[in-house]
Amino acid sequence: FPPSHIRNFSIIAHVDHGKSTLADRLLELTGAINPGAKQYLDKLQVEKERGITVKAQTASLVFKHEGEQYLLNLIDTPGHVDFSYEVSRSLAACQGAILLVDASQGVQAQTVANFWLAFEQDLAIIPVLNKIDHPGAEPARVTAQLAEAFDLDPAAVLAISAKTGAGLDRVLPAVVERVPPPRGDLAAPLRALLFDAYHDEYRGVVCLLAVADGAVGRGDRVTAAAAGQSYDVVEVGLLAPEPVPTPSLRAGQVGYVLAGMKDTRQARVGDTWHAARAPVPAFPGFKPAQSMVFAGIFPVSADGHERLAAAMARLALTDASVAVRRENSNALGAGFRCGFLGLLHLDVFRQRLEQEHGADVLVTAPTVPCRVVLQGGESIELSNPADFPTDVRVEAVWEPTVRATVVTPEEYVGALMQLCTAARGELLDHVVLDPGRTMLKYTLPLAELGGDFYDELKSASSGYASLDYEEGEPRRAPMQRLDILLNGEPVDALARIVHRDRAEPLGRRLCAALAGALPQQQFQVAVQAAAGGRVVARDTIRALRKNVLAKCYGGDVSRKRKLLEKQKEGKKRMRQLGSVEVPTDVFHDLMKVR
Ligand code: GTP
Repeated sequence: FPPSHIRNFSIIAHVDHGKSTLADRLLELTGAINPGAKQYLDKLQVEKERGITVKAQTASLVFKHEGEQYLLNLIDTPGHVDFSYEVSRSLAACQGAILLVDASQGVQAQTVANFWLAFEQDLAIIPVLNKIDHPGAEPARVTAQLAEAFDLDPAAVLAISAKTGAGLDRVLPAVVERVPPPRGDLAAPLRALLFDAYHDEYRGVVCLLAVADGAVGRGDRVTAAAAGQSYDVVEVGLLAPEPVPTPSLRAGQVGYVLAGMKDTRQARVGDTWHAARAPVPAFPGFKPAQSMVFAGIFPVSADGHERLAAAMARLALTDASVAVRRENSNALGAGFRCGFLGLLHLDVFRQRLEQEHGADVLVTAPTVPCRVVLQGGESIELSNPADFPTDVRVEAVWEPTVRATVVTPEEYVGALMQLCTAARGELLDHVVLDPGRTMLKYTLPLAELGGDFYDELKSASSGYASLDYEEGEPRRAPMQRLDILLNGEPVDALARIVHRDRAEPLGRRLCAALAGALPQQQFQVAVQAAAGGRVVARDTIRALRKNVLAKCYGGDVSRKRKLLEKQKEGKKRMRQLGSVEVPTDVFHDLMKVR
């Protein structure tokens, strides 16, 4: 296929607008997969369960149009805001994008965010309304929204149903006609963009590359510029969607490359590959993976560390965007401090540790990376609340923010503005998309997006508002360390970084929860919350009067043995804090208190 007969495109959409369904239909239509093989492009188990795309899957289709064969590369993008950098790199490998909008839901926050990502990359945009079979579909109204929000020509909008197949035959011809072919120079030295990578148990790291210039084939020696490493290419090929080896990948093509890479960390999304000894200008926009949320991960049983360490090592191989460090906690012992792209990423990682690697884990309350400036000007980047200094004067704390887009029916605007203000938000923009639909833009502290924010947004709008966000500028805020103390000893794993105004109410809730959940001990235990150098809340657990267990025991020896066994098992799930024994489950519950 010469570049004139290649098209590289993506489908971008709000969650649930039908991206995977459409992708599957296009694969079926071109004979790449069997009809009825559902959602080929979503592979991970967690993705299936949650119905959201976490890891992109890419496929090449062969399509005949007006007597000519075309190679269409459908470059999939992750479907969640945590992965917007990856979305932007996938789009960088394309010349066009299908902007898919549910005709019953209309333009949503992610539609807006994705449109701008594509627009910034100068992609040809094909607006497509999906679900026109849906009883609530309002194609005319949604077309008007698209015209208003993105200045798109209403005549260019296609209307389809990925479910019934209506209008589907117009999609790929539009891709061929409206998306420009890649502009590449086959004679120039190799210049390829790495836009995705995944770990395959049998084949090692599979890198997905879009070749801009030149060609790459088996036996070539190539260099990944940002990673600064060179490799011998073992195999190249197309994804159809199963890998099909080819002699080479040439300018304009998209495909996979195996180069004996062991760790996905070397396959940096956005990196530029060139022939060894023939460097080329790098693709703009490369960014090393940046952690936006940190959490401690510990084994539930005190003796589960080895198993967890092995699971972490294996999972980290397949997920290059998680940052892993060892951590020691006075409360939870040996564990890990991990950095994630966002809360969903953290959640997916935890779920995979448990489901795919059988590890039983305790995850501490997530924290965002704040910068703490000390007296004298020195500053530290915090990834753990327990590192927030208490012995030196803190001059200022800078917290990360996001620029959030909320799209909502008009009648909920008031409630949503209240919610955003309560979350310390700052209104940036207020746009009426069509009579009845409004877009709000806010700067919000990243820390406020955790917890219940999303649920509250949904309930304040009867489920109709949608949210998307991108990284914003760090903002100065009076953040403090909140400590929980048991008999005067701080429990490091329970420390949090909170806004000054939140320290006391949160401290109260944590004390009450801890006092309520801790089993009684032989002596009185004081539970306190401290912030900014003073105690902001306290509770007490009274001592046990009598040894209750002694009473239960009759004279039966086997029953006694059973009880002792049970106690031993239970001990493993206990943590010793000074003189106080804390069941691990109590930590579990406390991490959820907000
Ligand atoms: P993410 O992977 O989370 O981004 O979702 P998605 O955009 O890929 O959505 P998906 O394809 O999973 O579709 C979401 C839901 O809409 C599914 O229940 C589909 O069956 C349904 N759906 C998709 N296309 C159509 C359509 O044309 N008509 C109707 N009625 N339902 C559709």
